Amino acid sequence: MRAKIIGTGSYVPEKVITNYDLEKMVDTTDEWIRTRTGMVERRIASNNEAASDLAIMAAKRALKDADVKAKDIEMILLATATPDMLFPSTACIVQTALGIKGAAAFDISAACTGFIYALSITEEYIKSGKYKTILLITTELLTRYIDWTDRSTCILFGDGASAMVIQGTNSRDGGVISTHIHADGSYADFISVQGGGSRCVVSHESVDKKLHFMKMKGNETFKMAVKMMTATAREALSYNGFSVDDINLFIPHQANIRIINAVSKKLGIAPEKIYINIEKYGNTSAVSIPLALDEVVKGGRLSKGDLILMVAFGGGLTWGSALVRW
Ligand code: ACO
Repeated sequence: MRAKIIGTGSYVPEKVITNYDLEKMVDTTDEWIRTRTGMVERRIASNNEAASDLAIMAAKRALKDADVKAKDIEMILLATATPDMLFPSTACIVQTALGIKGAAAFDISAACTGFIYALSITEEYIKSGKYKTILLITTELLTRYIDWTDRSTCILFGDGASAMVIQGTNSRDGGVISTHIHADGSYADFISVQGGGSRCVVSHESVDKKLHFMKMKGNETFKMAVKMMTATAREALSYNGFSVDDINLFIPHQANIRIINAVSKKLGIAPEKIYINIEKYGNTSAVSIPLALDEVVKGGRLSKGDLILMVAFGGGLTWGSALVRW
């Protein structure tokens, strides 16, 4: 049994923040942001939108695209670093809104690698025969955890959600060929939001110390991202006996254009095979790869049989890759 993506959907909030808007908020320039990150604008959720609201919109679009009824979904797997609340899971909130009563529903946390982790879990559930039809969702509102006075992080992130319906098939025509997921928690302090967890509950003191905001060691993260994304891309290719020339489309996590270019150069991937939309959305964490995939699908850029390589890297540190035959 192979896991096949049979429908995709995504949703980004309406409000756009451009580099010029950021120029008015912190000591930065459009030129610095464009050249150092590749970003031009990003979306930001409105005050009354939470992770589940974005997720529901994306999920409805994916269900429609797949022509699958909510009642046919057996499991909802939702990757996010920015859930509606500590518990219950955002997956449960989405489940109720979609009317998928009784199906298993849970969140997974792997920061920007959340999609690859979720795809890997989905693949295993389907391969084992446990479930046939799974709704995989990613949703992120990282802008809620940004210190808007910190120019080194506030320019980087955007909000959004994506979803896909994944179904088991006996056909070898297409589907998920392999997934590889990794982590190294000794680098946990590279990207973190410390406030609000059980080690540092929300208090006046934690807020005064700005512990509810994301902290990131940008430079160190950059180097690890290039190294690990390259390694896991090579791992996916060699595990399946493919060469880089077999790849039709490369969708890397959209964290920084310089990371994407460095990884692509090391792998020797031709520029026309790399999908980049970082200029429109910034870093949307676990959403970036499936959001890109949805754009590619809707743009009619994929043909049956195309081989797609997806690689991600994020807080944890976590990283991973997936190879999908379309
Ligand atoms: N505008 C202008 N200047 C800035 C800005 C800004 N927005 N931000 C930083 N600078 C300055 C710094 O203060 C520094 O100035 P100095 O030399 O006078 O000290 C200078 O620019 C260079 O700073 P660096 O941090 O070395 O800049 P760098 O080229 O590394 O770019 C960036 C920073 C964009 C954060 C980069 O390191 C990066 O993309 N890192 C990876 C982030 C990532 O991959 N995250 C993925 C996971 S996120 C997750 O999992 C949720």
